[in-house]
Amino acid sequence: MSETPDTLVEDAAAVRSERFVEVKLDESIPNNVDLSSDKQLLRALETWHPQYLEWWKDMGPEGFQNAEVYLRTAVGVDPSGWAKFGHVKMPDYRWGILLAPKVEGRTIPCGRHKGEPAWQEVPGEYRSLLRRLIVVQGDTEPASVEQQRHLGATAPSLYDMRNLFQVNVEEGRHLWAMVYLLVKYFGKDGREEAQALLERRSGQQDNPRILGAFNERTPDWLSFFMFTYFTDRDGKMQLAALAESGFDPLSRSCRFMLTEEAHHLFVGETGVGRTVEATCAAMNKAGIKDPFATERIRALGVVDLPLLQRKANFHMSVTRDLFGSEISSNGAEAFSSGLKGRFNEANLKGDDHQLADAFYTVTRVVDGRFVDEQVPALRSINSRLLDDYIADCQGGIDRWNKAIEKAGIDFKITQPHKGFNRKIGEFKGHRISPDGRLLSEAEWAAGAGQWLPNDADMDFIGSLMKPCHDKGRYASWIAPPRMGINNQPGDFEYVKID
Ligand SMILES: [Fe+2]
Ligand SMILES: [Fe+2]
Repeated sequence: MSETPDTLVEDAAAVRSERFVEVKLDESIPNNVDLSSDKQLLRALETWHPQYLEWWKDMGPEGFQNAEVYLRTAVGVDPSGWAKFGHVKMPDYRWGILLAPKVEGRTIPCGRHKGEPAWQEVPGEYRSLLRRLIVVQGDTEPASVEQQRHLGATAPSLYDMRNLFQVNVEEGRHLWAMVYLLVKYFGKDGREEAQALLERRSGQQDNPRILGAFNERTPDWLSFFMFTYFTDRDGKMQLAALAESGFDPLSRSCRFMLTEEAHHLFVGETGVGRTVEATCAAMNKAGIKDPFATERIRALGVVDLPLLQRKANFHMSVTRDLFGSEISSNGAEAFSSGLKGRFNEANLKGDDHQLADAFYTVTRVVDGRFVDEQVPALRSINSRLLDDYIADCQGGIDRWNKAIEKAGIDFKITQPHKGFNRKIGEFKGHRISPDGRLLSEAEWAAGAGQWLPNDADMDFIGSLMKPCHDKGRYASWIAPPRMGINNQPGDFEYVKID
């Protein structure tokens, strides 16, 4: 995966000169939605904006609010110049509202309204369902910022720290994108939802974030890289499905968000990849061939590959739960109403895009064994998106494995069975091993420590989390990147810590 092409290097001062608070909101927020002409919307966003900044200061990256970070800022949606790079303090980041260009004559791609002109206003009969879809997507955006807020202190390099903060500010922008839709199209309810998005807190008992995986902790950098590879990829799949929405403003928002999401996935894939690289190099240097020589490998200050597999197992299984129940009437209604498509909906050939008579194979557990059942395709929309997600995860895993193979080490990272460690859907309540065996409670208890990170694993990872904040230096457990951000040299000061 590559960085966004054609990025512009701008004088840092130019990025900093337009401060949020000093200029009018419609001028300080990069937007292509003609904010200044909609006074009511502007007023609502002006009310929300200081609360957002309060939230960012309370719940955003801890300890680095005054640091100057080399960030890209979206300033337009045309491919030749949508991002500017420059050092900027995160609270001064120009969070904007950007929609992909309108496609003239676009029609609703799926469901019972297929072929009708895409909605430019909220379709009355689907108002609450649409609002719910936007709120659930919106809630994930600030949640991940909250989950990752302590990581700056233990960053393995300035390069990685910068990438973390880039992901964080863009998740903040994704929140802006959803709040724009709520406030513009849903009146008072929308404003209340926008408020609530700043009030829920990841992991908090009384007022948690809506989805489970977004209440898990992201306690260390390995978790961060696994999260950005596996969980941001759920984000990609959901955004791709919402980009097919018949509600055109949602579609256009999500299409632009997908371009940012690509960088988050890049951070995850290369973060795990560089961890693999450091491990293999250290093993080879020490003459260790056995990937299971845990003590000896850990003594080198690198992460053993079986531990990476256990971390991956955890993040994959938790993320699969985000797709919801495989068989779901809500999923069916989101599709039939035309509010949410499938992955790649508009390009699915030989398909009627309505699915009234179609079936889809869903694996279920019946009488203690796996059964592949034909289920009406409409009701198994979630199952299909999950399958597409699992396929999409494989590319990066293959590239990690190629690096391991090239290093001459006999180990392969694999995806666990779909039912492994699931809390939602068809496999909930069943004990299933990574290689897809239905287990008794006792068998599960005996194996869990080999399949999911155990206490000793987490202690070891914790022991590696020492800051490495000198220019051009990297912690022992992670290899330097092949290329700098925006082609910057290896010793570039990505974050100026004061
Ligand atoms: Fe996001
Ligand atoms: Fe993301």
